[in-house]
Amino acid sequence: MKFDAPATNNPIDQLKVIGQPVDRIDGPLKTTGTAPYAYERHDVAPNQAYGYVLGSGIAKGRVTAMDTAAAKAAPGVVAIVTTLDMPRLEKGQMNTASLFGGPDIQHYHQAIAVVVAESFEQARDATAMIRVSYAREPGRFDLAAEAPHAALVGADSGEGSGAPPEERVGDFEGAFAQAAVKLDTTYTTPDESHAMMEPHASIAAWEGEKLTVWTSSQMIAWGKRELAKTLGIPPENVRLDSPYVGGGFGGKLFLRADAVLAALGARAARRPVKLTLTRPLVANNTTHRPATIQRIRIGAERDGRITAIAHESTSGDLPEGQPETAVSQTKLLYAGANRLTAMHLAVLDLPEGNAMRAPGEASGLMALEVAMDEMAEKLGMDPVEFRIVNDTQVDPEQPERRFSQRQLIQCLRQGAERFGWSRRNATPGQRREGSWLVGMGVAAGFRNNLVMKSGARVRLDGSGGVTVETDMTDIGTGSYTIIAQTAAEMMGLPLEKVTVRLGDSSFPVSAGSGGQWGGNSSTAGVYAACLKLREAVAQRLGFNSAEAEFLDGQVRAGNRSAPLGQAAGADGLMVEDQIEYGDLGKRYQQSTFAGHFVEVAVHAATGETRVRRMLAVCAAGRILNPKSARSQVIGAMTMGVGAALMEELAVDKRHGFFVNHDLASYEVPVHADIPHQEVIFLDEVDPISSPMKAKGVGELGLCGVSAAIANAMYNATGVRLRDYPMTLDKMIDRLPQVA
Ligand code: MOS
Repeated sequence: MKFDAPATNNPIDQLKVIGQPVDRIDGPLKTTGTAPYAYERHDVAPNQAYGYVLGSGIAKGRVTAMDTAAAKAAPGVVAIVTTLDMPRLEKGQMNTASLFGGPDIQHYHQAIAVVVAESFEQARDATAMIRVSYAREPGRFDLAAEAPHAALVGADSGEGSGAPPEERVGDFEGAFAQAAVKLDTTYTTPDESHAMMEPHASIAAWEGEKLTVWTSSQMIAWGKRELAKTLGIPPENVRLDSPYVGGGFGGKLFLRADAVLAALGARAARRPVKLTLTRPLVANNTTHRPATIQRIRIGAERDGRITAIAHESTSGDLPEGQPETAVSQTKLLYAGANRLTAMHLAVLDLPEGNAMRAPGEASGLMALEVAMDEMAEKLGMDPVEFRIVNDTQVDPEQPERRFSQRQLIQCLRQGAERFGWSRRNATPGQRREGSWLVGMGVAAGFRNNLVMKSGARVRLDGSGGVTVETDMTDIGTGSYTIIAQTAAEMMGLPLEKVTVRLGDSSFPVSAGSGGQWGGNSSTAGVYAACLKLREAVAQRLGFNSAEAEFLDGQVRAGNRSAPLGQAAGADGLMVEDQIEYGDLGKRYQQSTFAGHFVEVAVHAATGETRVRRMLAVCAAGRILNPKSARSQVIGAMTMGVGAALMEELAVDKRHGFFVNHDLASYEVPVHADIPHQEVIFLDEVDPISSPMKAKGVGELGLCGVSAAIANAMYNATGVRLRDYPMTLDKMIDRLPQVA
């Protein structure tokens, strides 16, 4: 179906199953360790051998020779494929760096060989015996050093975040010069790693020309297309299967070396090969969130109204790469007649920078929302009020475009009330509890809402059960559950009568999981298929489809009634459809909003920061399942704590690699770091977005959190930090005198 006019009343509005906080239907599999993840699928292909990937030991240059004699003779070795065995492979359209083939090295730990052996240990041992000779070339690894000559480059993250190289509205420089109160500050964010729990992993098996890959992927159709292109085989010869994914955060959006090398290894070994990227390879072989340097200038009248706002960001990437779209939200979040955004891209020879949860806004708000706090202080205004004064209900660059829904003010007001914001002392460093300095901070959360074409197949059987098949993925987000809820609501069934099958490229192509579009778009696709199934059922039963009601496993029309299963017949009844979108996304600005509130305590002697309380008030359309949506938001808030206080890929600027390439040294929050988190969803339905009237929420929960923590740390101590992560070494010598 084509969705090109705002939704009217539809069966989803019944909210019998949709909108209920039902448990995840995959929960028992996850909690008993029986959900089959890619590397554990021993059953899918017999006689699996183990692959182990060798990454380049230089960041830039060439492989001049590889001596594999000792490795080939090592115990258990079945096959070795090196990058010198073939020319550079075709690159998928989403990939920046090559995944394999040829002598040229573009970044550290780029894959240069796969060793296949009878056991993991044998494969690892033999890999260590390969002798590689390199011709090393100098590389560019220091963003700050390259920034002064970085070119202006526009980009679209593909996730609803983007900006041209430079965009101007009005006369920024003139208005800024004349502003009564102004701010000009620079912030930095570091490179970050997705650090998902399940590393990239694939099992590959060939049957003649046909390749099946059991893998861990957010986007099945992209993966299938790109793997076929990379291997130079027809897409119809490739099948991907990824029913369970242990986290992705953008790191599994695109084809990676695990799938390519499992396939090449399996072809060489003439048997199925299983392969996982080790932790160091996750950091240096795959993608990461690029570091940024962000300059923000804000000018305002004394009453707090912004007259001039500029956001310029510099980030780096490999040649042909893209900038981090960190200025994107600044185009839309606040009013102001004179505006400037610009993105600069430095060429670096570090591993590929790419999407990580909320690319653009996550980094951009880490700067913008601290700048807003600093500006509020200069104006002598409460930071909640300063944001409210500058709210806009239209796209500030194109005022004829309204937001489909925009409840930022409500998020902030309700959050302030709930959090006890009125108890905050506006003068920093005033609240002391023993050895701890305590403060509160606020930030706005903003993330655009994208909708994506999405298909599904639904089958009714004689017992009145419905099976949904779509290549949608569940990356820990709850897709299985909200898809089952959608089909149950549409067909008038209890949840137990719905079976959901996901992640197989032989199923209809879905939106996939990315850019917080997955929940809304994939359920909208299931809605479309179910609408078609309702028609087919009514027709089979000889009912008037406009009158037919689907309730408690029965179909009723007028004074007639029949069990739903009766329409199935002996062979069942199967239909397929997809949701496609018209231009509502162009006519209206679709975004999601939050108010993030945080209380921190900073140790007066050591500078250690502990987060004490967190609250997110979210306005993100209809919430399809408040329990799984809350889980998404608290997970995202936790990620925001990591970005604020811990996460940083340390760059070796001499040799060009990320040093802390494991979970021992790349720190992310653990349970003990996280206090009670509260999440409130405002009542909102957005008929502009989809027939589900829902929007994305999984990334919104991250956007703004780190800035709220930075602002709380300032309120606690009077120390303003502008370089993330805000570790204690940046705080300790600036703290107030203890004694
Ligand atoms: Mo995208 S970074 O996978 O949501």
